[in-house]
Amino acid sequence: MSNPSLLILPGDGIGPEVMAEVRKIIDWFGAKRDLVFDVSEDLVGGAAYDAHGTPLHDDTMAKAQEVDAVLLGAVGGPKYDVLDFSVKPERGLLRLRKEMDLFANLRPAQCFDALADFSSLKTEVVSGLDIMIVRELTSGVYFGEPRGIFEEGNERVGINTQRYTESEIERVARASFELAMKRDKKLCSMEKANVMESGILWREVVTRVGADYPEVELSHMYADAGAMQLTRWPKQFDVIVTDNLFGDLLSDLAAMLTGSLGMLPSASLGAPMANGRPKAMYEPVHGSAPDIAGQGKANPIACILSFAMALRYSFDQGDEATRLEKAIEAVLADGYRTADLLGEEGRDPVSTSAMGDAIVAALDASL
Ligand code: IPM
Ligand code: MG
Repeated sequence: MSNPSLLILPGDGIGPEVMAEVRKIIDWFGAKRDLVFDVSEDLVGGAAYDAHGTPLHDDTMAKAQEVDAVLLGAVGGPKYDVLDFSVKPERGLLRLRKEMDLFANLRPAQCFDALADFSSLKTEVVSGLDIMIVRELTSGVYFGEPRGIFEEGNERVGINTQRYTESEIERVARASFELAMKRDKKLCSMEKANVMESGILWREVVTRVGADYPEVELSHMYADAGAMQLTRWPKQFDVIVTDNLFGDLLSDLAAMLTGSLGMLPSASLGAPMANGRPKAMYEPVHGSAPDIAGQGKANPIACILSFAMALRYSFDQGDEATRLEKAIEAVLADGYRTADLLGEEGRDPVSTSAMGDAIVAALDASL
C-alpha cells in the first residue's frame, strides 16, 4: 500500500516557521516509527496571492481534495488588508473549508499543568481543563445568502444571512454525539433559540439526534450564557456543539482559558472518503501573527498538536498522537517556553526552532 499523503500549506506570517517545526516531527515519525507520509507543499493565502493573484489556486484546491489530510499554518497579514474582499487571504481558507465540506471543526481547549498559572483565570478554575468545542464550519452566517452591501434608498445596507438546514445541523450534531461517546458523555449545545429561528431549529434537531445517544447527557444553553459559564466554571463542560459564528467566538474564549492561543490545535472534518478516512484539514487556532513573523519567536506547539490530531483522526494512530502530546507536556514541564508563554517573566524565551528540537528530543526519549 502507498504511504498516506499529506498536503502542507504553510501560508503567511508565522505559518512557514511553525510548519518547519512540524516537518521535523513528521520526519521523526518516518525515521523512528516507520510512519512515512508522502508530503507535498503548496501556497495558500497571501503567499498564493503574491504568486498567482488568488488566495488559493485551483490546482491547490484539487490537490487538497485528493490527499488524506491537509495541514495548514495560517493566513493573512496587514500587507493584504487593501486587497478586494474576494481575494483576501482568508478567502483561500474559507474555500478549502467549503469545497472540502469540512463541516465539523474540533477545537480542544486543554490546559497543560505547566501552564495553569499562565491563564488569566484562577488556577483552580483552569487546571486540568479538557473540553472540546465542535464548531459547524461550512454554513451559517459565514456562507448564507443573500449577502452583500446593497443600496437601499439613500444609504447602503450590509447583509449577511444566518441559515441552517436540518441536515446541516444533524450531521454536526451526530459528529458531536459520537465524540462525546468517546469522552465524558456530556454534550452542551449552544445557540440563541430565544431570538433566532435558526436557533429554534438547531435545538430541535440536536434534541432529535440525541435520542440515538441515550447515554450522552445533553444540555442546551443560549450562547451568551454559554460564554459566561465558560469563563465562570469551564470544567462543567465536556463537548460543546455550536454554529459557525458562535463557535468562532466561543473557541477563542475557550482558547484563552488555557493561557495561550499558541497552544491550541484544531481539526476540520468532513464525510468519509473512499478509503474510509474523513476529509480533513488540520490547523492551529492562532492566526498569522504578522507582528512577530520571521523572528523565531512563534510558538510551534499549536501546529505540532494539529499534526497530533491528524495522527489520531485521519491515520488511526491514537497511541502515536498521545506519544507526541506527552512529549510536548514533558518539554513544558522541563521549563521550555516560547515568548508567548512567559508573559511578564523576565527570563529569555526559547526560539521556535529550539522548541521544535526539544520536542524531537523528548520524542527520542519516549522510545
Ligand atoms: C478561525 C478564524 C477564521 C474564521 C478567519 C481567519 C476567516 O478566525 O478559524 O477561527 O473566522 O473562521
Ligand atoms: Mg476565529
